[in-house]
Amino acid sequence: MNNKTVYLNGQYVPLDEAKVSVMDRGFLFGDGVYEVIPCYLGQLFHFQAHVDRLTASLAGIRMANPYSTEQWLDIFKPLMDVSENQYIYVQITRGVAPKRDHAFPEKTPPTIFAMCNNILPFAGLETGVKAITLDDSRWQFCNIKAIALLAHLLHRQDAVEKDCAEAILINRDGFVTEGAASNLFAVIDGVLLTPPKSNQILAGITRDVILELAAKNNIACREANISLAELKTASEIWVTSSTREIIPVVELDGVAVADGKVGAVWHAMNSIFQAYKQSLL
Ligand SMILES: Cc1ncc(COP(=O)(O)O)c(C=O)c1O
Repeated sequence: MNNKTVYLNGQYVPLDEAKVSVMDRGFLFGDGVYEVIPCYLGQLFHFQAHVDRLTASLAGIRMANPYSTEQWLDIFKPLMDVSENQYIYVQITRGVAPKRDHAFPEKTPPTIFAMCNNILPFAGLETGVKAITLDDSRWQFCNIKAIALLAHLLHRQDAVEKDCAEAILINRDGFVTEGAASNLFAVIDGVLLTPPKSNQILAGITRDVILELAAKNNIACREANISLAELKTASEIWVTSSTREIIPVVELDGVAVADGKVGAVWHAMNSIFQAYKQSLL
């Protein structure tokens, strides 16, 4: 039994009672997008940037954002607990069509679902984690935060089965794209690098915040393609996301990253990032 209140198509209902038709295109085709928005003690983190990315994801699958930023806020507020660090999960599918047809249905209202969960502290934050590299077998629209995550799940599961926290994905040209559920940063020759935005990566909000904070705090940083060979020379590797924040990778493919300890640039950036979060509360 889970009686937590969630939002479904204009109603607030207990999670156990939130039901979607088997004809929903999200269920049948993975035809939808989602967004994950951190919410620290009731303060949504970079809310407009998350709404903008949701609008871009929807545009990427030829749907319109049904609500304004203010309307989304009104929807999310009743779900939030101001005494917790949480994240909003919001999912929009192309709705319930009368028949199973690949072509988009006409005039079908979207299915809109939102819930709020506590962010559990991630054990690897201070100690660092292990990661593996894998061939990136995803599609060519990784800039869309699509609910069809099967390739991501298979990559992450490969990592988990090798006792690793993340899979770092390498494209056909031998360059790093991102993690299975994160963006990637590496310190190479003293410079903090991250792959540029493209259709091969999700434009992470955490990634943008780190780039801004690095520039403001005189940490040498730039967007650059990183080959697998270059990644192996990195003195630090991080994977970043809204719910795990900035996770240092201390072992890659069974080999220690530098001395296998969490690096100085991570310590500096993590302190800056935590102070920045506090400043928004
Ligand atoms: C594939 C992928 N890349 C990057 C990210 C990081 O994005 P954000 O920092 O906005 O959470 C995520 C987050 O889940 C992701 O799934």
